[in-house]
Amino acid sequence: MTELISIVSGKGGTGKTFTAANLSLALQGFGDQVVCLDTDFDSPNLALQLGHIPEGHTIEDYLRGDINEHKAINVHDSGLMFVPSALHLSEETITEENIRDIADRFSSFADRIIIDSPPGFNEGFYSSLKASDRVLVVTNPEFQAINDVRKIAEEAEKHGAKIEGVVLNKMEGMLEEASKGEIEKTTGLDVIQTIPHHKEARKSIHKRSPVALDPHSKIGHSFRELAADLSDRKFRAPWYSGLVRGFKKITGR
Ligand SMILES: Nc1ncnc2c1ncn2[C@@H]1O[C@H](COP(=O)(O)OP(=O)(O)OP(=O)(O)O)[C@@H](O)[C@H]1O
Ligand SMILES: [Mg+2]
Repeated sequence: MTELISIVSGKGGTGKTFTAANLSLALQGFGDQVVCLDTDFDSPNLALQLGHIPEGHTIEDYLRGDINEHKAINVHDSGLMFVPSALHLSEETITEENIRDIADRFSSFADRIIIDSPPGFNEGFYSSLKASDRVLVVTNPEFQAINDVRKIAEEAEKHGAKIEGVVLNKMEGMLEEASKGEIEKTTGLDVIQTIPHHKEARKSIHKRSPVALDPHSKIGHSFRELAADLSDRKFRAPWYSGLVRGFKKITGR
């Protein structure tokens, strides 16, 4: 059975696309066959975050019936399969049925489908929530963002959706930040992964080289930990990763 995992948030810009792209790559690095699907039709940047110039077929082409499911799949240099969304605005919307249909059609070659959802409480969000086997909520340690997580938890309960947990992204370790414990207490959800705020995130997008493809990246290790946790595997960062990062810093690489 293909497992559908959605990446959602209430507030925009929390790092959903960053998480969807790098979690997909990390799962694939462990040997899973993964398809990453961009369902954020208003602000589609999965292809860009994967370091690709969006030029192939899109999910909108598939929804319009112009192409079949195989044509909709783009292949990343790493081998990851992904379905981008069109850069221009279109009439298409994604429904729960569409997502289930796509999962059904990809089931012969995908172990997992990761869905990069749009922010907010719109149709795309509810479609992801209802169609998915597991939902990950990406948030930041700001109090406004956490209120949205509480709302997502309430909506999930209303619709019988399973929230796997919260990914707390862009942690800076400042006193003013909401802590893991505070978030868990306020939302009733588990924080299953914390990801540091680091300039490496922006740099990786600029360099078109996702962090999960760097075997010693600190943020890359966070995604490998998350991927291992979700797929019942074990992962331990190599002890010398810090040395490799230090060496790269000194040599300006
Ligand atoms: N851990 C991190 N450290 C530093 N910057 C980060 C981190 N995670 C994400 N970012 C940056 O935050 C910005 C927003 O990330 P991203 O596009 O993934 O968010 P999003 O939730 O998908 O946004 P939207 O709601 O618009 O779809 C990007 O510029 C990204 O580089
Ligand atoms: Mg996004």
